[in-house]
Amino acid sequence: MEDKLRALEAEAREIILAADSLPTLEEARVRVFGKKGLLTAGLPQMREVPAEQRPVVGKLSNQIKSGLEALFAERQTELSETARRKSRAAGELDVTLPGRVPLPGRRHPLTLILNDLVDIFAGFGFTVVDGPEVELSYYNFTALAIPEDHPARDDRDSFYVGESVVLRTETSAVQIRTMETREPPVRIIAPGRVYRRDAVDATHCHTFHQVEGLLVDEGISFADLKGTLYALAEELFGSGVIVRFTPDYFPFTEPSAQMGIWYGPGGISRDPAAPHSRWLEILGCGMVDPQVLENVGYDSERYTGFAFGVGLERLAMLKYGIDDIRLFFENDQRFLAQF
Ligand code: DAH
Repeated sequence: MEDKLRALEAEAREIILAADSLPTLEEARVRVFGKKGLLTAGLPQMREVPAEQRPVVGKLSNQIKSGLEALFAERQTELSETARRKSRAAGELDVTLPGRVPLPGRRHPLTLILNDLVDIFAGFGFTVVDGPEVELSYYNFTALAIPEDHPARDDRDSFYVGESVVLRTETSAVQIRTMETREPPVRIIAPGRVYRRDAVDATHCHTFHQVEGLLVDEGISFADLKGTLYALAEELFGSGVIVRFTPDYFPFTEPSAQMGIWYGPGGISRDPAAPHSRWLEILGCGMVDPQVLENVGYDSERYTGFAFGVGLERLAMLKYGIDDIRLFFENDQRFLAQF
């Protein structure tokens, strides 16, 4: 029985391999797999096989059948490819084929917002600096005056790479690295990715983006901070936006504040009396703590400065009316094509 099956297999293989064009392959298909083809005639009906041989014969028959089907598919791909190549070489063009519409490349909404911020701050005289994403805990925490027992240092909140190396949890570390290597005046923004151990949902993600800002010079006051950030909000969202500063706490600034923006069901609200509007926090900021300035060797009697940190996803969600942070990372064309 096995010999008979093997012979059948060999014959079928020969027929398939002998086909040298798509039409002859179609003939081969009928001869091998067709209703009156080789397999129908040659493969045994199970009820005719003695019971004790059924497992072996059944298995072998199936193997042969699927092997032949695979061989057929392979041959079909080869021959269609050859046919396509030939017709292309002959300069044939099938004008009845539907055209393919190329998807135009577009900038990601986070890139758009970042470009906006870079442009706006370039106008204020700030330059862009970069810092490492894998950061020493000294820069990420210690130099920012974040105490040893602060929860952000916990490995349940932050991704540690080594004992004192962490995936940065905020871009503020770049402030320190910048001040260590430059003398005032300093005016920089530092955009980049940051990491926190957050479960992913509509408003949280373990990886997101911030832009840090820092200005240090003689005579800088809280009024400069407010003026700069108010101008940022107007540039980004258009004139008439309503913002407010409320007290907050960050270890590396004193005093610290957050800036909120007036926000309604239809987006940024320009009407203080608009119903259902509320304050939405969009960034943290403050006057750089004199101790932080001293830590990097600046004379804190002579220099003062302000700093801020803003989440890019949050800004993009506000500006474009996006209600789920996951959309930024899923690379769904239907979402990306809208920008
Ligand atoms: N690093 C803060 C955060 O991730 C944001 C921040 C607040 C940055 C105040 C600053 C600042 O530079 O001065 O929440």
